[in-house]
Amino acid sequence: MHRAMILLALLAAGNAWGQYAPAADPNYARNLASTCFTCHGTEGRSVDGVPPSLAGQNRDYLLKQLLEFRDGKRPATIMHQHAKGYTDQQLALIAGYFAAVTPGRAAAAPAVR
Ligand code: HEC
Repeated sequence: MHRAMILLALLAAGNAWGQYAPAADPNYARNLASTCFTCHGTEGRSVDGVPPSLAGQNRDYLLKQLLEFRDGKRPATIMHQHAKGYTDQQLALIAGYFAAVTPGRAAAAPAVR
């Protein structure tokens, strides 16, 4: 009986997690995109364009590249690894996020004191 209660509680928790609606989270797209900042620069403005800046690039172009990286159609050194594990919808959100950023220079690193 006790075990069954725990199992039920776990199932209920799992179900609640399954119903998590990312679209309702206003930061969802940015959270996904922020994993790319390490290499592509904060907000996708890369330092001296290496790797390419994503900020302000065409959404459809970005999405096509991401799908091709993920599906192994565009050869890459590391991007095929980074694009793995995302759904089409998540990649579309990421592409849309970067497309909406105004292109510009990467922010200067804070001075070391
Ligand atoms: C570890 C560094 C690293 C991370 C993290 C990373 N990238 Fe990249 N990205 C690269 C490199 C390097 C290239 C050049 C292609 C290659 O050799 O893999 C590239 C290329 C790209 C391109 C092609 C750009 C063009 O102009 O054709 C896109 C789009 C892209 N990355 C998007 C992303 C997105 C979106 C993420 C986050 C999900 C991400 N990258 C995370 C390093 C990274």
